[in-house]
Amino acid sequence: MIAYYLQIKMVHVAAVLASGGLFALRGALVLAGQRWAMAAPLRYLSYTIDTVLLTAALMLLTALKLNPFVTPWLSLKLALLVAYVVLGSLALKRARSRRARVVCYLAALACFGFTYTVARAHHPLGILQSLLS
Ligand code: HEM
Repeated sequence: MIAYYLQIKMVHVAAVLASGGLFALRGALVLAGQRWAMAAPLRYLSYTIDTVLLTAALMLLTALKLNPFVTPWLSLKLALLVAYVVLGSLALKRARSRRARVVCYLAALACFGFTYTVARAHHPLGILQSLLS
C-alpha cells in the first residue's frame, strides 16, 4: 500500500478540504435561516466526504504502520475529529437555541482548523508550537 501513499494522502487532504468547506457553508446557511442547507442530497454528500476522509486516514495509518493510540499527534487528531463531528451536528440541528448553534459552529470550525495545524506539524501542539517558542 505504501506505493500509493502520495495518492492516498492527496485523497485524504482533498476530503479534508471538502469536509471543512462544506460544513462552513452549510453552517453559515443554517444560521442565516436557509433550511435547504439540511436537504438530503447535501447531508448525504457530507456523509460520503467524511467516509472518504476517514477511510483514507485508515489507509495512511496502515501504509505508514502507525498506531494512532500511541502516537500523540494522531490520538489528538482522532479526538478532535470526534469533537468536530459532535459540535458540527449540534451546530446544524441538535442545539436548541440560535446562540448555542453559533457557539457550536465556531467551536467546530476551531477544532477543524486546529486539527489541520496538528496534521501539518505532526505535533499535538500544532500551530501553538511555533507561537509558544
Ligand atoms: C478533521 C480531521 C482531519 C484533518 C483536518 C486532517 C488533515 C490532514 C492533513 C492536512 C494532512 C497532510 C499533512 C502533511 O502532508 O503535512 C494529513 C495527513 C495525515 N492524516 Fe489527517 N486529518 C484529519 C483526520 C485524520 C484522522 C482521524 C487520522 C487518523 C487518526 C488522520 C491520519 C493522517 C495520517 C496518518 C496522515 C499522513 C501523515 C504523514 O504523511 O506523515 N487524519 N491529515
